[in-house]
Formats: sequence, C-alpha cells, structure tokens
Amino acid sequence: METHYPFTLPPLPYAYDALLPELDERTMQFHHDKHFAAYVDNLNKLLADCPEAQSWPLERLIQDWPRLPEDIRQGVRNNAGGVYNHDLYFNTLHPTPVTSPGPALQGAIDRDFGGLQELKAAMRTAALGQFGSGWAWLVSDKNGRLSVHKTPNQDSPLPLLPLLGCDVWEHAYYLPYQNRRGDYFEAWWRLIDWPQITKRYEERTASQTRYPNP
Ligand SMILES: [Fe+2]
Repeated sequence: METHYPFTLPPLPYAYDALLPELDERTMQFHHDKHFAAYVDNLNKLLADCPEAQSWPLERLIQDWPRLPEDIRQGVRNNAGGVYNHDLYFNTLHPTPVTSPGPALQGAIDRDFGGLQELKAAMRTAALGQFGSGWAWLVSDKNGRLSVHKTPNQDSPLPLLPLLGCDVWEHAYYLPYQNRRGDYFEAWWRLIDWPQITKRYEERTASQTRYPNP
C-alpha cells in the first residue's frame, strides 16, 4: 500500500471465492471492490485540494486529522481509517490458515490473556459488544504488551498497533450471516492468518520507531 497520497486500491491477495465456506464470493467482491475502493477514492478526493497533507503517511492522517482544515477533517478521519483498516483486514485472512501463532506471539498471548481461547473470548466480547458499525482489535503497545479494544465507525486504535481487526460493519457479513454477528465472528476467527499476525508482532517488538506510543 502507498505510504501517502495518491492512494490506490491494493488487489485482494487471494481469489474472491478462496475464503469459502466462511465468506462467500459476493461478500468479498462488494467488500473489497466497492467498500474498500470507496474509502480509497474518497480519501484521494479529500486530499486533492489539500497539498499540505499529501505527503502525510496514512498513519499520520489517521492520528493527526484534527490538524487538517475543518472542511475535510471528518472525511479524512473516516476514509483514512477505512483504508488502513481494510488493508489490514484483507491481509490478515488466509484461505488455508495456520491456526496457531508463532512462539513470540503465543507467549505474549499466554502472558496477557491466559491463552488463545481467552483471547478469542475477549475478541468475541468486543466484536459483539460494539454497538452498530465498528471494529474489534487485538493491539500491541510499544513494549509488545497486548490488549483488546473496540472502536466505532472507521476509528483506529493507533498509535497502539493493530495486529488483527474484526470488521463488524454489516457490509462484512450481512449477505451470508444476516443479523448473526456471532456466527460471522466464528467464521472470521477460522480464517486468521496467524503467521502474518506473528510477523507483524515481531516487527513491532523489534522496532519501536514510527510513532511514539502512550
Ligand atoms: Fe468493511
């Protein structure tokens, strides 16, 4: 993904039907080609007339949107978040997932949650407890300590680094699961690309640079 404006839509990293039976082809087409694409297009339109922000990395747009001109502030907040969150979402699912984290991440999960099933329970509570549209997150602070959060709309947990995000907007699951968000969560959990999450965690703990954490 580009680090700054103009942003382009990255291709889906697997076939549209690759996540069956958990997520169907039509859901993936709409989610990636329509919803994700709209966040990219809208963010570019908002930044087109704001040259001072065109060099800002996506992570800065997400965190420093209150410094932008008032007329684009809320739009950048929503759409930069939408771009970042969906890029992470599609890249942390896998058609043939490895179902356990690597040793470094597993150790942190055991330390901070008591085990993988306890993490799953915390993520499920966050995903099902988010009223309306939003996300449930597994995040790491700069020291590698893990926690679970939920955010409304396309808000981001940055500067806490998102390792894994469950999109609980209805557009992510309504076609196959209708109102059954819990069934979608269980399906989503089976698709998690744990080696990718582990790599992201190890990069985080190896380098504490990009943005200072609280
Ligand atoms: Fe989404």
